[in-house]
Amino acid sequence: MDLGSKNRLTPRQAALFTGEGLFAKLARAACAAGCLPRKELYEAWEMARRVRRRVRGGRVIDWACGHGLLAHVMLILDDTSPSAVAFDTRLPQSAEKLQYALVNAWPRLRDKVSLVESTQGPAVKAGDVVVSCHACGGLTDEVLHRAAAARAFVAVMPCCHDVGGSDDGGLAGWLDGPLAIDATRCAHLRQAGYHVSTHRISKEVTPKNRLLIGIPEERVGA
Ligand SMILES: C[S@@+](CC[C@H](N)C(=O)[O-])C[C@H]1O[C@@H](n2cnc3c(N)ncnc32)[C@H](O)[C@@H]1O
Repeated sequence: MDLGSKNRLTPRQAALFTGEGLFAKLARAACAAGCLPRKELYEAWEMARRVRRRVRGGRVIDWACGHGLLAHVMLILDDTSPSAVAFDTRLPQSAEKLQYALVNAWPRLRDKVSLVESTQGPAVKAGDVVVSCHACGGLTDEVLHRAAAARAFVAVMPCCHDVGGSDDGGLAGWLDGPLAIDATRCAHLRQAGYHVSTHRISKEVTPKNRLLIGIPEERVGA
């Protein structure tokens, strides 16, 4: 199976995901919705697993959420989170369809994830967990900035780097442009008083696979 395929998962494909494991159950729910590109399933799952190993609880904000799967998976993996906001300036029409299928599979998610379409992002508070998968170009910087200003936990998997436009920290002579930009994002977050860790998800899922997780220093080990 091509894990990075943009083809939509369909109810017929549910039979490919057998067993009682959480991922199989999630994949079957996504298939039932019949609207989610396959790569988004793997991206959200792989990102959420890595974030949840390091960050528990908190209200989740999925910034530039698209279908909003990441917000739901964050709550599926940790039911100590009270709620989530899945925010996008333009939600796909099928986001509600996916939510319906996920709530059907996990009734405890009912009324816990708000799908918000707005030109303004939600207010972020200390203790929130701000996640953003593939917020294009400078939008990743906005997410990091908004999270850091509120002392929230933050995790981003950047894409569509604006080489020549975004701050590369002067590193572009040594590192390729997108890597220089991401390294500079790490440095800025550290300067803002964050413990930073870097991870990758499988390249088979997406070539834009660098994951940056930031924990406010005052929350480390708390
Ligand atoms: C590449 S998609 C990623 C969607 C989803 N996070 C995923 O991983 O599948 C980028 C998303 O950013 C949204 N977007 C664009 N500008 C935005 C902004 N200023 N604030 C919030 N979302 C925005 C788009 O509507 C789109 O859904």
